[in-house]
This record gives sequence, structure tokens and C-alpha cells, in this order.
Amino acid sequence: MSASRIDALLSQMTLTEKIGQLNMLAAGFSVTGPILGGDASGAVREGRAGSLLNVFGPRSVRDIQRVAIEESRLKIPLLLGFDVVHGHRTVFPVPLAEAAAFDPSLWEATARASAREAAVDGVALTFAPMLDVSRDPRWGRVVEGAGEDPYVQSLFGAAKVRGFQGDDLSDPRSVAATVKHFVAYGAASAGRDYASTDMSERTLRETYLPPFQAAITAGCAAVMPAFSDLSGVPMTANGPLLNGWLRGEAGFDGVVISDYNAIAELVAHGVATDLTEAAALALKAGVDIDMMSGAYEQGLPLALERGLVTLGEIETSTRRVLALKERLGLFNDPMRGLAPGGEGAGTLLPEHRPLAREAARRSAVLLSHRHSVLPLSERPQRIAMVGPLADAATDMMGSWSGAGEAGECVTFLRGLREARPDCAISHARGVGVDEAEEGGPEAALALCREADLVILAIGETREMSGEAASRTGLELPGDQANFARAVLDLGRPTVVLLSSGRPIAVPWLFARADAVLATWFLGSEAGHAVADLLTGRASPSGRLPITWPRSVGQVPIFFGERPSGRPASDGHYTSKYIDLPTTPLFAFGHGLTYGQVRYASLAVEPKRPKGNEAITVAVDLANDGEHLAEETVFLFVRKPVARVARPLLELKGFNRLTLRPGEEARTMLTLPVAALAFPGPDLTPSVEPGEYEILVGPAADRTRLLRQTIQIEEGGS
Ligand code: IFM
Repeated sequence: MSASRIDALLSQMTLTEKIGQLNMLAAGFSVTGPILGGDASGAVREGRAGSLLNVFGPRSVRDIQRVAIEESRLKIPLLLGFDVVHGHRTVFPVPLAEAAAFDPSLWEATARASAREAAVDGVALTFAPMLDVSRDPRWGRVVEGAGEDPYVQSLFGAAKVRGFQGDDLSDPRSVAATVKHFVAYGAASAGRDYASTDMSERTLRETYLPPFQAAITAGCAAVMPAFSDLSGVPMTANGPLLNGWLRGEAGFDGVVISDYNAIAELVAHGVATDLTEAAALALKAGVDIDMMSGAYEQGLPLALERGLVTLGEIETSTRRVLALKERLGLFNDPMRGLAPGGEGAGTLLPEHRPLAREAARRSAVLLSHRHSVLPLSERPQRIAMVGPLADAATDMMGSWSGAGEAGECVTFLRGLREARPDCAISHARGVGVDEAEEGGPEAALALCREADLVILAIGETREMSGEAASRTGLELPGDQANFARAVLDLGRPTVVLLSSGRPIAVPWLFARADAVLATWFLGSEAGHAVADLLTGRASPSGRLPITWPRSVGQVPIFFGERPSGRPASDGHYTSKYIDLPTTPLFAFGHGLTYGQVRYASLAVEPKRPKGNEAITVAVDLANDGEHLAEETVFLFVRKPVARVARPLLELKGFNRLTLRPGEEARTMLTLPVAALAFPGPDLTPSVEPGEYEILVGPAADRTRLLRQTIQIEEGGS
């Protein structure tokens, strides 16, 4: 449908029907709030709802789409949206985990597979990817993004948009992506979900906006504003950022969809007295679709009467929604992509299992490892697998896995039993995640006493991270710490599988266990993937996309901080704590592999680049170990002296490579001079002349980085 056909359709629409296209209702289960009472299909029939949330499955979709295209006056197809965040029926690792793979092609592939499964289930729009940089693991939604770094989050966002949308949105295997939550939601005060945010324009521009720019450049179809306010202006009513930055500076031309009930919540924010004012504020700020608040349906007619909005403003949003339906091919085929048959008919699970296994394998991070306890001995042995998460299928999925089925998830226990039928693998929980275990820990401890090796699976349940799951502490929940100490006191070789949606600050556990593998929430194939790593079928390769603190008191802690005038040292009046080091437990990028990687040398050419010449960074590495090594090489820069203080490290690239035992190899990274640009004192970006450090190594830890300098001449770029 061309613009003129959209105009022709618009000219036939009543005000109710125009506003109806801006109204998204939930039919089905509710995710983050009460379901509106009343009959969603009645609203569709009367042209009062143009999109629905949480309806999926061939039969349900066909039924409701039929109401729209056969029983409504103008027969406009519905837009059906669902949170396909890290998989649909096949569940891939949660985003924070998948970020640890540091591989944009993997990130794209899992989104593509998710889109295919969602599309055959009738979903045309996903509310993903989440691009909220977060440096505060208390915030429950840290699990939904790619961690603390804007560069990683930008690559992750662009890859996800490409994967969900493909080359052509009208391809019935594609779904429209909604990048969220615009903007700075990840900087919620005190890590409390939905709380206010505040920051300098420099931080906003350097850290929080770039991932959204990258997703817009990749062609994302929709954007969702954050629930939160930024410096007093709720994002749902933030004209300067929505109409100004997003649609103006960043060139976004798609649809803006509010978060759940967020328009009505403008009243609770204290910027509107009623739904009419709330609706007017949101529409004028650039929000096209009202998700589930009813404010547009109830408030916009009155707002129009009172002159708070114009008909033109309503029509602009209606036009954008119709254009998205058109781009998706819904006018040509309202049943696009839908599998024939009933619910569950079109899932592609078997086809996607190998990808889910690979993604899970590459997302796990080996945080600590001593005494060569891994990979497991090839000799048959007695293994005790204990802890509340050893055989917890639901918890393998993580939050936002609404179409996933626990029965289709492979637990750690099942995975290892399948991989090592020669071993006697006993199991008892010993403790609950946050509740007492019937019978206490004794049975599990007895199994551990008799075992050659103990595998302890502890951490958080899937509900403990995600939306509205902020925590004040980063300890192990419930009585798990006591149970873990009791297991460790037995003195058996012990490997810990630590599942969580955030870093867990347990220095004592890392000091005492022989190995700790961060297993996050790895999805449908978690058990097989972890068994691959434990048995040495694959070498661990995940690297932390977020700094792992020693204590919650260090939060926010991130590698890109700016230097203090009094850096931490032994002196008294320096920037430090008197009870803990300032350094994290594990730096961003940390992650062990079974090999032994040595960084031999770094060469950077040219030393005085001209114009936008590409700087070539060559790194020589060797694997001195006896096992395969999977290495991620990080490239950081720093400008030691500039007109504004620059972060201690800025990530500008990474490369992955595999090294066989004894192998030496060179990896090359390219750094365009333009990537050295940063906003000056007036926030205008430029490449300042002078010296830049180029630093390369395995993690954001200056003591482990190789360093060279280059010089940018005055007027040279
Ligand atoms: O997409 C989500 C959003 O991230 C949080 N609130 C509900 C939306 C729709 O489910």
C-alpha cells in the first residue's frame, strides 16, 4: 500500500477508527499489569483496537485476525505483538548471557531463529531487543540487555534488529523489532525498577544513546519509551528526546509504542491531571501506540475537543501504524507466516536445538578454576550433583520466555547424565533457592561425602531477575550460602554452576570452590551445553559483558569510569574504600578457557595516522596449555590528556580466535581514526589531536593489557 493508498484509507476512517489504530489491548495473559476488562474482540470488531499484545498460536491468531478482516468496517488487519526476547518456543540464553559470547553473528542468528518461530505462531512484532546499558546489577532488568558497555550494546542491538527483521520486513519469517527502553532506563536510581533517572547530557550522549542510534541505523521498526523519567520528564512524554533526538537527530521514521499502561502512569508521575492530559502529552511527544492504558481511547477525543491535540497529530500517528502494517505485508496477507493447524503447530524446535546448544555453550563464563578439576576426568567416577538448580527445568529459561516450555528444557542433571552414562551421578537438592528444603541438607551432604566430585548448582530462580525484580543485595538468596559452605567443608573437589541474571557477589565461594562456571539462564539446551563444557567436548569461551563486583557496596562499578584526581593508592586521601579494594572481583571481559593463552606482542600501524586512515592493530598470541583455547581479544583506547577527562578505558573492538595446544597465532583488529572521536567541552564530537593509548588484552584490566601509543596531528583527521 503506497502513501496515497494509506491516505485513501485514512480518509474513510472515523475519529474512533483512527484512534483505534493507536490502541493496543492485551488479550490473553497479562505480563506487567491487570488485563483491561471487557471484550478485546468486540473492540477489534468496532475498530477500537488496531493491535493486540500477548496473543500467539495459529488458532488464536487466526480467530482474532478474522474478526478484524471480516467483521470490522474497514477490515484493517491487526498488529500482533509479543515479547520474543531471547527465543520463542526454543529458548536461547538470556541477553546478558548471550552478550558473553561476543559474537554479532551468533546474536543475529538466534534472533533470526526466534523470529521464524514467532512468525509461524502469528507474532508480527516483538518488544525486543532491550538496549539499556546498565551498570547496576541490583536492577533486575540488567539480565535483559548486553551489559555495561555502549559499544557492545550497540553491536548487540544492531545484530538483533537484523536478525528479527531480516532484509525485508514483509518476509513472513521476519518480525518487526521494538528497541527499548528509550532511554536511560538502566540507570534507575538505586537500581530500583521504574525509579527516576538523572544524568549529564554527556553521559546520555556517550553511553545511553549510542545503542539506540545503532539500532535505528540498522532499520528498527519500532521504539518503546522507558517507564521512567529522565531529569523530571517521563520518557513517555519526552518530546525533546522522542520528537527531537529520536525522530530528528537520529532519523527514526517508525512507530513509537508506549510501555504497558505507561501513558496513564503520567498521572502518577505528576505531569498530568487525568487521562486526557496524559494522552495529549504522550501523543504530542511522539508516542503513536498506547499499550493497554486506555488513555488514547478515552482521552484523545476530549483532548481534541479541548484543543490539546490536533487531528493532524492523531492522523500522523495513525499513518505510521498503517505504514508498519503495510511494511509487514499484513494488508496483503493478514495471516502472514502463520502455520496451518492449531496452537503449537508451527514450532521449529528440533531444527533450532543445535543453535540453542551452541549459544548456551558460548554464553557460559568460567569465572574461576583451580587444581585442573575441569574438564572432568575421562575415567568413570561418582559424581554428586546437588543444589536447587541442578534439575530445575523452568529456571533454565530465565525471564521473558513466555512461549517456552519447561518440559522441553534440558537440565544440568539430565545433560550430564546423557553425556556421561559411565559415571554414577547421584542427585539431591539439599536446599531450596529461597525456601527451606524438606528433610534439610543431610541427604545431599551424604551423597557428596561418597562422591569423587561434587557439582553444586546454586543461584537465583528465573523470577529473581527481570522486570520488577530488583534486589538490594547481591548475595546468594535464601540459605544457599550455608549449604554451599557445608558442601565445601567436606573437602571434595567441587565445581559450582552459578545461575543468575546478574553478578552474584560471593568472593568466598570463588576462593574456596575448585571451579565456578557462570551459567546465567542458558535456555532450552542449558544441560547439554554445560555438559559439553564440563566434559571438555568444548572449551569455555564466554567473557563477562559486565564488571563483577566484590560487594554490592561497589555498585555502580564499570570499566569506563573517568580518572580521579586522587587515584586509589596506599595514601590516605585517595579515591578508595577503607574496607574493600576498589577493583572488582572479575573485570569486564574476564573468562577462563581450558587452554593457557599468552599475549606475546602488539604492533600498531601507522603511528601517526592521517585523515580517516584505518589503524591496524596486530596481536600475537600463543596457547601454552594442553587444551584448546577460545580467546576473545579486546581493543581499548584511552586519551590520557584531552580537553575533557576521558574514561580510563573505552572499548573499540574485539576479535575471537581459537588456538590449539602449542599454537601461535596473530589476530588483526582495525580501528578507524573516526572511532577516536568524543564529545568535547561543548558536546560536539571530534577527534582531538594528541596522544592516544591503544591497549589490547583479555579483559578491561590495565595490568593485563599490552599498550602502544599513536599520535594524531593537529588538523590531521
Ligand atoms: O515489552 C514489555 C516491557 O519491556 C515491559 N512492560 C511490558 C511490555 C510488554 O510486555
